[in-house]
Amino acid sequence: MFKQSTRNLRVKLACLPMQILAPKLYLDVQYMIGLDNDESVTDVPRPSIKWIKQKYNTADFVGVEVGVHMGLNAESIIQMLNPKMFCAVDIKVFDEARKRLPKTVKFIEKSSVEAAKSFADKSLDFVYIDAAHDYLHVKEDLAAWYP
Ligand SMILES: C[S@@+](CC[C@H](N)C(=O)[O-])C[C@H]1O[C@@H](n2cnc3c(N)ncnc32)[C@H](O)[C@@H]1O
Repeated sequence: MFKQSTRNLRVKLACLPMQILAPKLYLDVQYMIGLDNDESVTDVPRPSIKWIKQKYNTADFVGVEVGVHMGLNAESIIQMLNPKMFCAVDIKVFDEARKRLPKTVKFIEKSSVEAAKSFADKSLDFVYIDAAHDYLHVKEDLAAWYP
């Protein structure tokens, strides 16, 4: 629908009220989503993961990726953050992901919304949501995973 090349401009315009009303929050968002660099959103490590590492430098992360596919981003998250517990949620767990990721990873083969019920509120440090990308599913996922 939109060209990727105009993505940064569109996001910046959408974030203008935040930039004026909450400049510190805007700086975090800008870094997290890689607004002022040339990274593609598909490159790993992802800007949001680098942001977590920089902001919360701890070895005690407990996290989940929702939508793992072949495990490329999950692998990068594990390399960057070295979480003490990492769960990989996908409605269909691919063999490639099982082979790629360390044996300590817990795979949950369920829909995002069903899998979210397995976790108590505030038991996770981060949830990387990258499952179905349409508006309704993303909205549903945010509601399911937000504590
Ligand atoms: C864009 S791919 C994930 C890519 C991966 N995060 C990466 O960057 O390497 C989306 C994945 O979400 C899964 N998926 C789609 N809808 C889902 C749902 N409702 N619940 C759980 N997983 C879902 C698909 O099976 C697919 O593997």
